[in-house]
Amino acid sequence: MIKLERVTKVYPDGTEAVNGVSFEVIKGELCVFLGPSGCGKTTTMKMINRLIPITSGKIYIDGVDNTKIDESELRRNIGYAIQEIGLFTHMTVGQNIETVPALKGWTKTERRKRAEELLELVRMNPDEFIDKYPNELSGGQRQRVGVARALGADPPILLMDEPFGAIDPINRVELQSEFLKIQQKIKKTIIFVTHDIYEAIKMGDRIALMKEGKLVQYDTPANLLYRPKDEFVEAFVGADRALKGLQLLRVKEVMTSSPPTAKVEERVEVVRERMKQQGVDSLAVVENDGKLMGLVSASDLGKGKVVKDIIRPLATTFTVNAVLNEALSVMLSSGLKTLPIVSEDSKFEGVLTFDAIQKALHEAVQAGEKK
Ligand SMILES: Nc1ncnc2c1ncn2[C@@H]1O[C@H](COP(=O)(O)OP(=O)(O)OP(=O)(O)O)[C@@H](O)[C@H]1O
Ligand SMILES: [Mg+2]
Repeated sequence: MIKLERVTKVYPDGTEAVNGVSFEVIKGELCVFLGPSGCGKTTTMKMINRLIPITSGKIYIDGVDNTKIDESELRRNIGYAIQEIGLFTHMTVGQNIETVPALKGWTKTERRKRAEELLELVRMNPDEFIDKYPNELSGGQRQRVGVARALGADPPILLMDEPFGAIDPINRVELQSEFLKIQQKIKKTIIFVTHDIYEAIKMGDRIALMKEGKLVQYDTPANLLYRPKDEFVEAFVGADRALKGLQLLRVKEVMTSSPPTAKVEERVEVVRERMKQQGVDSLAVVENDGKLMGLVSASDLGKGKVVKDIIRPLATTFTVNAVLNEALSVMLSSGLKTLPIVSEDSKFEGVLTFDAIQKALHEAVQAGEKK
């Protein structure tokens, strides 16, 4: 889909920003450009839509040399969210998002509807924000509008330069997850720049790790973590690579499906017996319609007659599609050894346990080393 062949950029002042980079971004994949500041990520990205002219080498888009594609057509078919946000300051949020759809001749109603949808997507209330100007927004909000604008006309290719860089960690994790959910549906070809190794592992189908203008390793996140090509990659992924590998796993791959549960009206003795038989010290409390009510714990069994008396409600629930490290982090901070998991429509699906996480991680590391 996007193919780089010995791409080189030397800036007029002699800086060699990109040096002989070759690789191919596969259609429908999200490719992360990762590497230290100044290694040439932005420069490489900007040569793809020709915001920066190439010095030597070729870039092909769908087999066509990008210097042969009309510049305005190139920009219309490639959504672009830039590092410095770059919203048009004299236009409202809505007008910013509608820019490319307008160029493509969409009607006013279609454009507005699209802008509202995209604002919802980046978790900004359209009623509140659509008529505001960029200088009335925070940095993180501006950046989210930037992402919405890049998605505006539904382009097949998206270039995103640190799109979540200015967003606080909590919102960032949520936006990443939202964005991945959307990507599963829309299957765009995406280049996503970040310095953040966690973000790269979570988001990338493949990662291009760069150093001083050169491509060091182009690989899946698992291979980058478990089969680093050289010492630079090893140092970049860090000694805690096993922990980072947690981000490669979804809760559904590790959880125990359909485990024994308890009901609100059940007597404590019955529940105690079930826990003993199953060798567990807590059970999810689930209603007949599949709704998760909370947890009942062995240590609380003496404090009441029926489950209802001793049930503990849950502050956070995770879905089957949650990333494993986020679920583990809640288990660690809340002291829960068993975390009940729900489906996307909030029905109880299974439980996550420390043992299961440890086993999955061990298997992943071993599989990586064996390859
Ligand atoms: N217009 C320019 N003229 C000269 N040198 C430049 C220019 N733009 C960037 N550079 C240099 O090219 C190199 C690569 O810059 P680039 O912006 O591609 O890095 P980056 O990987 O995106 O970094 P960051 O993570 O900090 O955004 C750097 O050494 C930078 O100083
Ligand atoms: Mg950059």
